[in-house]
Amino acid sequence: MQPEQTVDETHTFIRHSNLSRCPGIICLATTTTNAGHLSMNSSNRMNGQWRLKSRPRGMVTENDFEYVQEPVPELKAGEFLIRNLYLAFEPAMRGWLNDVKSYVPPVQLGEVMRASTVGQVIESNNLDFVEGEFVSGMLGWQEFAVSDAAPGVMGRIGKVPEGVDPVLTLSALGGTGLTAYFGMLDIGRPEEGDVVVVSGAAGATGSVAGQIARIKGASKVIGIAGGERKCNWLVDDLGFDAAIDYKAQNVNARVREECPKGIDVFFDNVGGDILDDALLNMAQNGRIVLCGAISSYNEEELPPGPKNYMQLVIRRCTMQGFILIDYFDQAAPAVAELSQWIAQGRLKHAEDVQEGFENTPKTFLRLFEGRNLGKQLLKIADVQP
Ligand SMILES: NC(=O)c1ccc[n+]([C@@H]2O[C@H](COP(=O)([O-])OP(=O)(O)OC[C@H]3O[C@@H](n4cnc5c(N)ncnc54)[C@H](OP(=O)(O)O)[C@@H]3O)[C@@H](O)[C@H]2O)c1
Repeated sequence: MQPEQTVDETHTFIRHSNLSRCPGIICLATTTTNAGHLSMNSSNRMNGQWRLKSRPRGMVTENDFEYVQEPVPELKAGEFLIRNLYLAFEPAMRGWLNDVKSYVPPVQLGEVMRASTVGQVIESNNLDFVEGEFVSGMLGWQEFAVSDAAPGVMGRIGKVPEGVDPVLTLSALGGTGLTAYFGMLDIGRPEEGDVVVVSGAAGATGSVAGQIARIKGASKVIGIAGGERKCNWLVDDLGFDAAIDYKAQNVNARVREECPKGIDVFFDNVGGDILDDALLNMAQNGRIVLCGAISSYNEEELPPGPKNYMQLVIRRCTMQGFILIDYFDQAAPAVAELSQWIAQGRLKHAEDVQEGFENTPKTFLRLFEGRNLGKQLLKIADVQP
């Protein structure tokens, strides 16, 4: 049986931090419907799961996933039970649906969809994990997860440090914040006075990447994003110097206008035409950070590669990709620095929070529809007091 699906377009709320128009942690909240509650009780707990039903060809659809319920198993020695509170969504998850060799194995048909989550330990046979504690990890699209703390394909379960908002471990202090951090600092390496351009700039990774460049002394930070609302947010709230609406403006012409001396660092989340336009406008010895290429993730046939790549030769530029998992052993000091910037009000973050487990696949699709501002999350349960 599939639960009722009822996300209303207007029923989104965005959690912002330290924004000029939105002081405080949570703002811009409108009410959210949460229909299709799932049956469960504590003595006979059922686990709702979204599993991969079919491998998408082209654009992923809600029908590629199916909802199932199964009983939560009895805990064995060393195991603990987590109730997922928030699910996080990343464009890379689209790649995990393809049966191809990649940096992680594909999600198998019939398997619970892989995703990072934050949850609360609600029962424990493991002395290291105490009831009530918050944890984050790759626990997937399910209401409950049993773990023995052994590492999975993408690392191990981590405890949310005391005093940290658990939601932040999925956003600015989680995978996307760290991706922005390592991509910008290790690959982009902005220097004082550099001109930095970020594509996908109003998303979870891009919004943090641009601000890090500013913190590191970039003289000009320009974001490329879809639509006026996102562009205004980048400039008015996040302090970008300019924003280019790739849906309404000629990107090449606008980049040339904003960066007459060329781009020193281009942090690319999008690929395709936007990468080609950036290539035309690189400064001598510029660095292109290949973080992702969301414009092609749902293409059945991959578009031809960047046609302007010879600019790398002419301008002596580098273009380098990276994968966050290679930096996991350096995560702790990075999280400490990101936390410090947030506390100092230098790094702002936003989470786009939908509600209701029944809306899981629908929320995933928001990434490819460009509907999220900041990190796309789905709240599926309340914290247990
Ligand atoms: N290398 C790594 O280790 C690593 C780790 C995490 C993420 N990533 C990559 O980082 C990028 C951003 O990920 P995220 O989690 O931060 O997602 P996100 O940017 O928060 O959300 C995706 C955004 O992409 C934009 N988009 C969607 N379809 C597009 C298209 N066809 N053309 C141009 N823009 C499009 C949309 O914004 P607009 O409204 O502006 O179009 C959408 O809001 C992705 O490419 C992802 O794969 C890489």
